[in-house]
Amino acid sequence: MNTIYYDAVMTDDERRRQLFDGQLFVYTPRPSTLAMCQFARDLIEEAFNRYTSSPSQTDPPSLHHLNPETAQYALPVEDYAAILGKLKPTFIHHPESKRHLQNIFRELGCDLTKTYFDVPKMRSSTSDAYLTTGIAYAWHPHRDTWYSAPPCQINWWIPIYDIASANAMAFHPRYWQHPVQNNSRDYNYYKWNQQYRGPSVTQFLKEDPRPLPRATEPIELDPQIRLICPAGGIILFAGAQMHSSVPNTSGKTRFSIDFRTVHVQDAAAKRGAPHTDEACTGTTMRDYLRATDLSPVPEEVVALYNDGTEGQGNLVYQHVG
Ligand SMILES: [Fe+2]
Repeated sequence: MNTIYYDAVMTDDERRRQLFDGQLFVYTPRPSTLAMCQFARDLIEEAFNRYTSSPSQTDPPSLHHLNPETAQYALPVEDYAAILGKLKPTFIHHPESKRHLQNIFRELGCDLTKTYFDVPKMRSSTSDAYLTTGIAYAWHPHRDTWYSAPPCQINWWIPIYDIASANAMAFHPRYWQHPVQNNSRDYNYYKWNQQYRGPSVTQFLKEDPRPLPRATEPIELDPQIRLICPAGGIILFAGAQMHSSVPNTSGKTRFSIDFRTVHVQDAAAKRGAPHTDEACTGTTMRDYLRATDLSPVPEEVVALYNDGTEGQGNLVYQHVG
């Protein structure tokens, strides 16, 4: 990789080619992303404003109006995780979330009839290691292709509030096409769906027992790239790109939206980022929905990614909550 495209005027076909070469794209906020961020902010602010502290025997319940970016400093971590545990599924399932995605794809020049997406996730990164597990996991360096994403997957990342270098996400360009020893061999997407999806994730407040694939040799975090765009800006990267959460020391919780896309012709032609070091099994290909009618990727295309483990676990991500 060698290029960061800024507000590039380019067809989606060419953009995907560049992404599969390891390049990064950043876009300034536009109406569709600002609308999605406003929608997300309304949900976030409502969730934190609804917070009522556990009343003691003598005190009446009190309603708090908390700034979401600093609410972590006013709440017991159990309560904070419980708020996120309700807020995040609400965002994921909300029909408005999908409508916003369609508008974003349209504005960014994607062909909606050929673009398939997975449901948008809301992420949070708390400051000062307040909560780094479970529902607010601080991501170690990884490629999404260690988690059964196909090589053609493209990741979209949008900050909901303004971010700073100290609460951003980082790319580790040294590892583009450079293999790293890792334990993705132990990861099967279908077994994972069966064993680790569900509301129990909010219980992981101090440690996270989930066997998340990671590097098994020391990673050189630098040089690293942190792209800082305003709230509603978009960062685009190949799922094969090595990336991580920056340990948040900013004093503010970062909230962001991310989702993934595949173009059905890339999937059918098995185009995408080069294979480097992933050894996981299963595929996320059944999770993507067509931007026009929410239909799944055609079965004959999915079949190209079958590896014989389809008989075990849950083939599709089950949204709980
Ligand atoms: Fe990731």
